Amino acid sequence: MRILVTGGAGSIGVYVVRALLNRGDDVTIVDTFNDFYDPAFKRARLAAVLAGGRSPAVLGVNVADAPALQQSFAQARPEAIIHLAAWPGVRPSIAHPLLYTRENVEGTVGVLHAAVQHGVRQVVFASSSSVYPKATPLPFREDAPCDTTLSPYSASKRAGELYARLYHDLHGLSVVCVRFFTVYGPWIRPDMAMWKFTERIIRGEPVPLRRTGPGGAEVKRDFTYVEDIVRGVLSALDRSGGFDIINLGNNTPVPLSRFVRLIEEALGKSAIIHEEELGAGEEIATAADLTHAREALGYAPTIAIDEGVRRFVAWYQKEFLPKFPNGLAPSPYWA
Ligand SMILES: NC(=O)c1ccc[n+]([C@@H]2O[C@H](COP(=O)([O-])OP(=O)(O)OC[C@H]3O[C@@H](n4cnc5c(N)ncnc54)[C@H](O)[C@@H]3O)[C@@H](O)[C@H]2O)c1
Repeated sequence: MRILVTGGAGSIGVYVVRALLNRGDDVTIVDTFNDFYDPAFKRARLAAVLAGGRSPAVLGVNVADAPALQQSFAQARPEAIIHLAAWPGVRPSIAHPLLYTRENVEGTVGVLHAAVQHGVRQVVFASSSSVYPKATPLPFREDAPCDTTLSPYSASKRAGELYARLYHDLHGLSVVCVRFFTVYGPWIRPDMAMWKFTERIIRGEPVPLRRTGPGGAEVKRDFTYVEDIVRGVLSALDRSGGFDIINLGNNTPVPLSRFVRLIEEALGKSAIIHEEELGAGEEIATAADLTHAREALGYAPTIAIDEGVRRFVAWYQKEFLPKFPNGLAPSPYWA
């Protein structure tokens, strides 16, 4: 099948692209290689993850640029779309709401519209656990009300789901919105906690552990290994017809103190802990109810957090540090 993957140079996208190429699909990547984090790292990741396999076509196009997107569709003639392109990150979106709205909301509408115009059979849209409002009961179920959001990023993802539903109702477009829960693995985004904590422990810098307040509840995250996410995305792609929203998580929320202990063990070095209050836009805990994912996609995560942390830390020490001994170019969007 011919598949267009937006955001295919991203941390989840490269693994999705590799899995599609390995099973024989023809893939076109549409990605701006934006500077949310070092574009040189994105290029190195694409080369490393796809090394030794078949190659995708790579188009440096912004999905919010409608004429350029039209050209990409005309060139790639996709039968299906996996739409992963977006500016990620809850906290940076609070300072850059217009950027997130243009790229994530206009970009998603552009992709849905082009999909209808070009007779695409199936669209998979990357949504997020962050669409669940504060105080949603754990584990999060897809039928929980999502009428309020905590950040422009979360609002952009919820808006994408609503537009996906609209394009299904108006035009019969088949769309599965997959809500990802804290995805990690080798080559993940360098703004993610796993990366930052590992880097800080190695450098002997304090690691921030967030709570609701002094002595309050600790942050917990449903960390999900990227290869499990990829299996879920491909199953969503292979489903035919309709509209759906499906959680892709791990269903095992991990307190950050345990998470730090696992990184310490993998590194053989202790962390200096700095307790902080929960930031604006952040949820205290996330956990995916996977009942619907199991029924609709046969999805079942396979990698537990201790194994996943070991894999990440081994990659960081053996592959990342030798390739980038001076670290990454600083991001203008996150500290
Ligand atoms: N990583 C997670 O834990 C997580 C959790 C929930 C949802 N998601 C969603 O999954 C998707 C992939 O996230 P990721 O973690 O791989 O992020 P990423 O930043 O590594 O990947 C996104 C890619 O999209 C590209 N991009 C961004 N805006 C674009 C645009 N307008 N046009 C074309 N390309 C554009 C970027 O250059 C980047 O390569 C995103 O939609 C994100 O919102 C991720």
